[in-house]
Amino acid sequence: MGKSISDAFEEVMAKVGEIGVQAGEAVKSFAESESTERLARGMKKGTRTAAEGIAKGAKMAAAGIKEGSQIASEAIKTNAAKKKAGREQKRNFTLSNGVRIPAVGYGTYLSTENNGKQTILDAFEAGYRYIDTARFYQNEKEIGEAIKESGIPRDEIFICSKVWPTMLGKDRLRESFDASCEDLQTDNLDMYLIHWPKVSQNDEEWITKLQDSWEAMEELYEEGRIKAIGLSNFLPHHIRPLLETARIKPMLDQLELHAGYMQEYALQYLRKERILAQAWSPLGRARVLGDERVRKLAEEYDKTGAQVLLRFLIQRGIPVIPKASSLERMKENLDVFDFSLTSDEISYLSCITETGWSGEHPDLAEWEQ
Ligand SMILES: NC(=O)c1ccc[n+]([C@@H]2O[C@H](COP(=O)([O-])OP(=O)(O)OC[C@H]3O[C@@H](n4cnc5c(N)ncnc54)[C@H](OP(=O)(O)O)[C@@H]3O)[C@@H](O)[C@H]2O)c1
Repeated sequence: MGKSISDAFEEVMAKVGEIGVQAGEAVKSFAESESTERLARGMKKGTRTAAEGIAKGAKMAAAGIKEGSQIASEAIKTNAAKKKAGREQKRNFTLSNGVRIPAVGYGTYLSTENNGKQTILDAFEAGYRYIDTARFYQNEKEIGEAIKESGIPRDEIFICSKVWPTMLGKDRLRESFDASCEDLQTDNLDMYLIHWPKVSQNDEEWITKLQDSWEAMEELYEEGRIKAIGLSNFLPHHIRPLLETARIKPMLDQLELHAGYMQEYALQYLRKERILAQAWSPLGRARVLGDERVRKLAEEYDKTGAQVLLRFLIQRGIPVIPKASSLERMKENLDVFDFSLTSDEISYLSCITETGWSGEHPDLAEWEQ
């Protein structure tokens, strides 16, 4: 930390005091050695010189302090503006169509099992305004009720839901979308995703079903019923066939991403295609929290392991949707904007050995028909 202006001023004044004492000492020894007449002459001249010197010095000091404080206050203002811009940038991500999404959303899978809509109300109280749900989670009704009860205007809440793979196909997707809207008590969704690319490994028609489903997504988007359309659990080899017939590119792909499972090849492809990657299970369903390397970093920053894991993803340019049950943990997971990991720490966490994988893979999953 640099010196404050008042510390610097105090130091200068102490020096002036020291010089004063030295001058007094000099006059004393002069007095002891010279005649009274010469002493009087010398003192008169000395006093005048000293007074002029002090006046000049004080003027210079005042000008210096004024200039210094101007420079300091400019620097403080610039620094604060830079910090603010950095904070704002990191708290939101922008999709390719300009829609902004918060860096930290609330994941609701298995979140309402014990306390129902109260969990969602708690999430709002903690400060979340992005809710991630899916038809599969069977909690859209509770979320709809919580939104209504919260009194928060609908346009201040970002709702994302997903269509389950058994409902793929042009008409079925629309049917599922309407059902989600009805349960969520809304006419439109902020984002809608195709949950998994295929229903099973043996589904030979998966590409046709996907292309038809995407057409339905595009129509809903053009009708203004969805602000952003995207995918979930799609790897490059699932996205390529979709892009062959798509008129509108997906804006986001929600993937399992966390330290210990970073799917770098998919991330590189998504970046090239300008599709934003979003992390599900950003904490590796809590399995990565006990990792020695994560714990060490958390200690160094005086943060928790969860905060380090979330911060890591955000700094990698990936928004996150952690799920937590208590108000305390919900708040903790939002409190990730007051520290920054170094590039080496990001590299380190990006390269840790595979850990905490859920075991769910889009090419191996078998969802009921
Ligand atoms: N698209 C997909 O296919 C897909 C798949 C899975 C999940 N998701 C979405 O992603 C969301 C998050 O993923 P997830 O729920 O699987 O995993 P997660 O967010 O990585 O981990 C949740 C687990 O971490 C614990 N936890 C949360 N915050 C904590 C903290 N600060 N300290 C200690 N433990 C903490 C939770 O415990 P408590 O609950 O006991 O607090 C819970 O056991 C889901 O809710 C869902 O919305 C999407």
